[in-house]
Amino acid sequence: MAARIIDGKQVAADMRAELKVEVAKLKEDGIVPGLAVVLVGEDPASKSYVTAKERACEEIGIYSNDNRLPADTGQAELMALVDKLNKDPKINGILVQLPLPKHLDESEVLLAIDPAKDVDGFHPVNVGKMVVGEEAFLPCTPHGIIQLLVRSGVKIEGAEVVIVGRSNIVGKPIANMLIQKNDTGNATVTVCHTRTKNLAEHVRRADIIIAAAGRPNTVTADMVKEGAVVIDVGVNRVEDATKKRGYRLVGDVDFAAVSEKASLITPVPGGVGPMTITMLLFNTVASAKQAAARKG
Ligand code: GUN
Repeated sequence: MAARIIDGKQVAADMRAELKVEVAKLKEDGIVPGLAVVLVGEDPASKSYVTAKERACEEIGIYSNDNRLPADTGQAELMALVDKLNKDPKINGILVQLPLPKHLDESEVLLAIDPAKDVDGFHPVNVGKMVVGEEAFLPCTPHGIIQLLVRSGVKIEGAEVVIVGRSNIVGKPIANMLIQKNDTGNATVTVCHTRTKNLAEHVRRADIIIAAAGRPNTVTADMVKEGAVVIDVGVNRVEDATKKRGYRLVGDVDFAAVSEKASLITPVPGGVGPMTITMLLFNTVASAKQAAARKG
């Protein structure tokens, strides 16, 4: 079977159009959602992510507050900025771009963000709420994957899902979301990782495969059941002399061979990637609505 491509760019564009309408309606009530983005240092990948996030905000009418700090910024200075943003009523979401330079204490910074403004869903309060099934900001990449599945008509309930990778940003939260007793959960989930004994044996059982290992060709065609749905979260640079920049982006899945067996598959780029920023916009709009409701 040749797989149908899940077009993440199109799903993201549809959701952004919906959000733009919602933001315009909020503005009629004097509510302007605001997102503060904090970038420490000059990492080129982080810089391009942050620029893309700010551009996406502007596109749909969210106020974007840019905070770029030098690489040698101290912990106290960064904590003071987070405190200031926590108190600023124009700011509904605070995003500190990770990874932070090595000399900074990442978990102290994430813990300092007001959970009500934690649109990344990384604060332990939001992680805990997600795990016990309470309403919380859901982390953007896993939330985006669920939207891709739902909007592509994939049945999650009762599905055998095999996740490859156990990161805090993708593997662990998506596993938790998919086992929840709700409309987008009720799956049977296996989480594989670097110490898993027989990866292929697990992946072969899957109705839905989520590859988030950060390594090219982690999922090959021999591991994939005919008709499986394949979500590729990997973003890996591989050398390519035919490209002007000297590399191309590939996922964790052997796309060419696996797409001959899968029923649905996400490409890299253009699959999960565009959804991550979209869910950040979604959380920022939700946060602005919650702040307005609290004010009454
Ligand atoms: N670095 C890579 N992905 C993310 C993300 O989703 N949020 C933040 N804050 N940093 C990241």
